[in-house]
Amino acid sequence: MRRSASGLSSTVPPGVSTRSTCRPARPGTTANNADSSIRALQTAVRARPAPRFSRLLACRREGTFCPRFGATARKAFAMAKKTTTVIGMGMMGKKLAALLLQAGHAVSVWNRSPAAAAKVVGQGATLHQDVARAIAASEVVVVCVKDYEVANAIFSSPGVEAALKGRTVVHLTTGSPKEALDMDAWVRGHGALYLDGAIQAAPEQMGAPTTPVLVSGAQQAYDSALAVLQVFGGGIAYLGERASLASAMDFATLSYVYGATLGFFHGARIAETEGLNVAHYGSIIHQIAPSFGEFLQHEGQVIHSGDFAITQSPLRISIDATRRIAQHARDSGIHAAVPELAETLFRQAEEAGYADEEAAAVVKVMRG
Ligand SMILES: NC(=O)c1ccc[n+]([C@@H]2O[C@H](COP(=O)([O-])OP(=O)(O)OC[C@H]3O[C@@H](n4cnc5c(N)ncnc54)[C@H](OP(=O)(O)O)[C@@H]3O)[C@@H](O)[C@H]2O)c1
Repeated sequence: MRRSASGLSSTVPPGVSTRSTCRPARPGTTANNADSSIRALQTAVRARPAPRFSRLLACRREGTFCPRFGATARKAFAMAKKTTTVIGMGMMGKKLAALLLQAGHAVSVWNRSPAAAAKVVGQGATLHQDVARAIAASEVVVVCVKDYEVANAIFSSPGVEAALKGRTVVHLTTGSPKEALDMDAWVRGHGALYLDGAIQAAPEQMGAPTTPVLVSGAQQAYDSALAVLQVFGGGIAYLGERASLASAMDFATLSYVYGATLGFFHGARIAETEGLNVAHYGSIIHQIAPSFGEFLQHEGQVIHSGDFAITQSPLRISIDATRRIAQHARDSGIHAAVPELAETLFRQAEEAGYADEEAAAVVKVMRG
């Protein structure tokens, strides 16, 4: 054990230099504002006194980053707390900032209407009047505003382009795959790393062990933002390097949600018409949801494999079922659009000769 220049104890063995060929850290990771990161690394060193942790700690303290460390040490570096700016103090942005503060991160915030930041400022966040200064203040910049149009307008503010250099932008505004790709190119063009994300939870559900957040973008951006992302939820799914993947998966899962939701509403109309208790119908849906999820997981595997041989549910069963439900709607005089859509697609699958394949074969009709 020896004492470093800064007086902090380290477990660097004699002969292992803590000064090295490391390159300067990115903006925001200098010794002054990396205190929380240093504390996290000290904890890692205490838990596992390996020389590479100690060396990593020394580099962090000096404001340098050494690319020669192994995966474990790089993970420790990634998990070190990051100075973070949150742009957008709507319902979601406020929650993200509050979670970061609770987790011990140094947080700066900006919002078009500064008053919305009052609560998180009371909890310890630094409010900036100027968005460029807010971006310049941190290593990681989380953006969560109404839509991409608003995000683009904010990024067009004076000084932002220069302030972005060296930052990692985590963009959690909901948008389309194309908007994500355009933003990725623009942000990277200004010297910053970019990670696009889609939050699949309400504000009060954020920060839980299973809270789902989809992200995609450069691996380096993901590594840089991981310590921040993990504060937002334990269900972080990194989908790959293409920035559009997170919003594409968001669209895909939302398509399922909206399809099921409309089916649920049609079921409610059947219940009303046939004299059933609609609340009871809702609780039965709740009961069958997990096994239905398992069935869809299987259908996903079938589509992925390209082998549509019947394993669970023959398509012909769905042809008959959707025909009966649509006919019931027509006979009862209730709105028939939802079951007629299903009836049409399954009939087209039958006409295409897929009746004796797995139900998932209807996707072949949808491929056109
Ligand atoms: N809330 C949810 O349950 C939820 C769940 C998943 C994903 N999301 C996504 O998270 C994002 C934010 O949602 P939210 O619930 O926080 O929305 P919100 O409460 O309506 O807040 C909207 C934010 O956008 C800002 N904004 C709107 N128009 C603006 C403009 N013209 N210029 C500058 N700023 C503008 C607002 O600033 P002001 O305060 O100045 O108006 C506010 O910070 C959305 O993309 C949403 O789809 C939300």
